[in-house]
Amino acid sequence: ARIAILVSGRGSNLQAILDAIASGALPAQIVGVFSDKPGAVGLQRVEPELRWSADPKAFPSREAFDAALGDAIAERSPDWVVCAGYLRILGESFVQRFRGRLLNIHPSLLPRHRGLHTHARCLAAGETEHGASVHFVIPELDAGTVIAQARVPVLPGDDADRLAARVLEVEHPLLVAVLRLAVEGRLAERGTTVFIDGH
Ligand code: GRF
Repeated sequence: ARIAILVSGRGSNLQAILDAIASGALPAQIVGVFSDKPGAVGLQRVEPELRWSADPKAFPSREAFDAALGDAIAERSPDWVVCAGYLRILGESFVQRFRGRLLNIHPSLLPRHRGLHTHARCLAAGETEHGASVHFVIPELDAGTVIAQARVPVLPGDDADRLAARVLEVEHPLLVAVLRLAVEGRLAERGTTVFIDGH
């Protein structure tokens, strides 16, 4: 299966996917890494031919940037498009274009803490557990159907950085596990239910 990855930053989730592919645990191929940050460290994790980036400020509108991004992705004919630490909101037409094969990993136990600063908000709310979710993307931010979640405890003395590090450790295997189901053709969304089908 062909996977396109969107990143805005360091790309540790992308690296987890690359490692899983290299070890044979994930029967897939990265066909492109796409970024809204031309300087993103994550881009460096793949060979230059697979990198695409552009600065949204160079485009007249969100729609124009999304269209350029979408065209670059479509050119690589991916089966799955995965937002792995992609921090820019995707507009409705982009989401519709890739609907049903567009996934995101979000660092909270959705539906709690949609949007940014999830770790600080979890601590501020005094919660005892936190985690990450992989979900189908719909136009409403972080609101698509959840496929799977990974949990960690909130521990005494945690600050946002310590908690983020604990969550990141479970993000990587979570994302690989979901992608494995995806590339095996076993993942399907129907309404607000996700089916994990047999062969
Ligand atoms: C992860 O916590 C991801 O869930 C969030 O941003 C972080 C990106 O980390 N949206 P990385 O770029 O994969 O290292």
